[in-house]
Amino acid sequence: MTTKKTLFLCGSPRRKRSASLCTAKYLARFLDYDYEFVDVTKAKLSTDPGEAEPAFLKIVERMQMADAVVWTFGAWVLFVPVQMQYLLDKLFAQGYDFRRKIAAAVMTSARAHDDFILDRVRFVSEQLGFGYAGDVSAVGNPFFGYVDDEEVTEDSCRVLAGQLNRALADGYVPSKHYPVVERRYLSPTYRGPGFAVDDPPAPKTSDKTILVLTGNRLSEDSANAAVTESIHRYSRNRVEVIELQDRRVGPCVGCYLCDFHGDGVCVLKDEYEAIKQRLHQVDGVIYVGTCASGMVDCHLKAFLDRCWGIAHRPSLGGKYGFVVATGGGPLEAEAAWYLRGVLNKTGTRCIAALTQSAADAPVFAATVRRTIEDLDRALDEKWQIADRFGTRGVTWTFRDLVATSGMVLRADYRFHKEHRMFDARSPGGVNALMRLLFKSKRLEQRLIATRQAQIAKARGERLAAYLRHGRLGKGEEISG
Ligand SMILES: Cc1cc2nc3c(=O)[nH]c(=O)nc-3n(C[C@H](O)[C@H](O)[C@H](O)COP(=O)(O)O)c2cc1C
Repeated sequence: MTTKKTLFLCGSPRRKRSASLCTAKYLARFLDYDYEFVDVTKAKLSTDPGEAEPAFLKIVERMQMADAVVWTFGAWVLFVPVQMQYLLDKLFAQGYDFRRKIAAAVMTSARAHDDFILDRVRFVSEQLGFGYAGDVSAVGNPFFGYVDDEEVTEDSCRVLAGQLNRALADGYVPSKHYPVVERRYLSPTYRGPGFAVDDPPAPKTSDKTILVLTGNRLSEDSANAAVTESIHRYSRNRVEVIELQDRRVGPCVGCYLCDFHGDGVCVLKDEYEAIKQRLHQVDGVIYVGTCASGMVDCHLKAFLDRCWGIAHRPSLGGKYGFVVATGGGPLEAEAAWYLRGVLNKTGTRCIAALTQSAADAPVFAATVRRTIEDLDRALDEKWQIADRFGTRGVTWTFRDLVATSGMVLRADYRFHKEHRMFDARSPGGVNALMRLLFKSKRLEQRLIATRQAQIAKARGERLAAYLRHGRLGKGEEISG
């Protein structure tokens, strides 16, 4: 009907099975303007933020031609899936600006920190120049798309579609919530400054091992190199460093099999499992992340995404560590908060979350040193630290969700039994049923198909009821 367009940028590695895509497709039916879906994962963007490969330029072209962009993704360790971050990294590093366009988001999640994630998405959208129209946040399920509160989700989709329709009709662009932050702090190519590390080294009198994980190659990141050098020099323990950029740790594909395997084993065959093993063997763990796209560098983010299988067990209990965020100026506090949360979730006690930019170099250097000394002490004295940052205490963790939402259909029977997950309360007594039915693959497939059919029918009925007074949008799908 008009030339205005909405572009759904789909970042879920689960691609066609994505719950967020399923939700966005529902929303799209109410758009009055044409829309297209672009699969960001399929583009296989490189991790090099400076590279403008054809697949990237094609996405940029779609974005430039669109009037509204809808980030469509599953929550992926408190941010977007790393494949979507590759896109953001390039947009920030290469200086793109989408002023006068609208952004919105459709996210599905397990309801862990939805607000934080969507707020980050709003923030990065605004820093890219977009006016942010709003978002839909729904609980996603690997088999059934959006689940729980289905009426609310569907109505939220219709409301957001209506807002987009009205904004596109009269050229309205919402005002920004966040002041503009210097672009360099968002760009992954900007690194924090190094600092002098020249006091005499501490004697290696302790027999423990500390593992430092840093995303960027240290030879290209002065700040992280100085932090790492401090740890080497001032810790009384052995220190090992892994530079993830130089290791083969690919993005999580969202198969959830780690959740259903004992020990959270990942099915992807790269270096992740070996690094995970090492994490279990050492005594201390330190994450050193560089800020990028409003979060941390994509190498560390990719690794943390892959840790999903151990994020809920938590199998790294009894260890201590700390986190450092560099190269992000005012954005370091959020990044450090993020890293601390993720470290704590695996069971490691995080004794500090450091940021570089708010302090003068000597003060920061002294703080890093003091924190390393504290980590040595924590390891020796086994500090007791209350789990005040963790979220394991409440019942939303994914493993609990798995146990309570019927996703046990695919789970590892022995693991679940051992962890008494069938004892969790579940809607309609599904877990009691599972105890009996679990092992049969055929039955499992049939149950999923039956449930899918029920859900599709109920969705159809709700839509028919809505259409008695409402209407579908006039837009059409124009995906290439
Ligand atoms: C690696 C990984 C990380 C996840 N991180 C979060 C998270 O931080 N918060 C949350 O609520 N759900 C999280 N989830 C659950 C997914 O967001 C949820 O299943 C979502 O519906 C997936 O959407 P999709 O099918 O479109 O990818 C995570 C799932 C995976 C596999």
